[in-house]
Amino acid sequence: MKGRRVVVANGPNLNTLGTREPEIYGLQTLADIQAMVDAKAHDLGWTADFFQSNHEGELVDRLQRTPADAVGVIINPAGLTHYSIALYDCLRALPVPIVEVHLSNLFARKESYRQTSVTAPAAAAVITGMGSRGYVFAMEYLSGLYE
Ligand code: DQA
Repeated sequence: MKGRRVVVANGPNLNTLGTREPEIYGLQTLADIQAMVDAKAHDLGWTADFFQSNHEGELVDRLQRTPADAVGVIINPAGLTHYSIALYDCLRALPVPIVEVHLSNLFARKESYRQTSVTAPAAAAVITGMGSRGYVFAMEYLSGLYE
């Protein structure tokens, strides 16, 4: 029997959304995104364990505590996407489905290194370029897995 908890993890620098390169990431703050996630979780009858860290090891520590009965993990690994094998290894070991979300379209970014995600192979799905709605779509996807 699945529980009703969704884990939503956010990587480095996402705490500065709202002022950070708004032409790329928009004007919404991470608190705005958390409010959207909480509202969707409420609609689904879930609770969201939403957190952000600028530290790779802290993200790994938090993710390792994902309950086995969680409906899934939604993660925006931010800059760690492009190089963190430690985060990839952690995600691979989780016993729940994972959705990787990016606010921007990684494939339309001018830096070529952003077109590689070392963490995405651990995910069941990747949403990139839909802004904050990507988090909500990720929750809809996870909910569909249990219908
Ligand atoms: C990001 C894209 C990453 O390349 C970048 O390092 C981020 C945010 C996104 O949501 O578009 O910090 O993950």
